[in-house]
Amino acid sequence: MSNTPLVIAIDGPAASGKGTLARRLADYYHLAHLDTGLTYRAVAHLLLARGWPLDDTAHAVEAARLVDLGNLDRSTLAAHAVGEAASKVAVIPEVRRILVEKQRAFANTPGGAVLDGRDIGTVVCPNADVKLYVTASAEVRAKRRHDEIEANGGQADLGEILADIRRRDERDTGRADSPLKPAVDAHLLDTSEMDIEAAFLAARTIVDDVMATR
Ligand code: DC
Repeated sequence: MSNTPLVIAIDGPAASGKGTLARRLADYYHLAHLDTGLTYRAVAHLLLARGWPLDDTAHAVEAARLVDLGNLDRSTLAAHAVGEAASKVAVIPEVRRILVEKQRAFANTPGGAVLDGRDIGTVVCPNADVKLYVTASAEVRAKRRHDEIEANGGQADLGEILADIRRRDERDTGRADSPLKPAVDAHLLDTSEMDIEAAFLAARTIVDDVMATR
């Protein structure tokens, strides 16, 4: 068995459950965890906070340089408008280059790491030990997000959420630089018919198999 630290790359569309899965796997295998979506959200948040345009490369680059991986506040960055803006700044290649460099440094955490996002297995960590591509139908993802909002006391319109998810999918899969797609050597995990426990178990089986042979 190898003594080199384990790196797990998890990709997938919005609301696929990849974030929850990444956190659970990181806890279970005692690995550091980075939700790379937060890095794009942090750039968007900074631009919005300073009133800078989202499509201006020079400002976006400056914001990307300021992103500090040790200081990503999930609650500030969770807002819907920040996610929308993040998928817009994520099309700027110069922004991606700066953030990918920071993400790769994180992947080199001495004890090993789990990173989740859209281009982890394809661009950020092409040599990851395990690559998972987590997906679910757009309808199932919309229903999950809807139920999550209502469980937190909010109100949500399922049709609007579904339209929103489809728009986000289109932007994430259609962009020229690092579009969302499974790496050729990724294990596909369709969670449409799975709850989080079943998805976690399926992912652990894949990771354990890889660890046993590396
Ligand atoms: O996963 P999320 O909703 O927090 O991601 C916000 C946006 O950031 C998403 O629409 C696309 C972008 N993103 C990306 O382009 N590459 C990543 N590795 C992670 C997120």
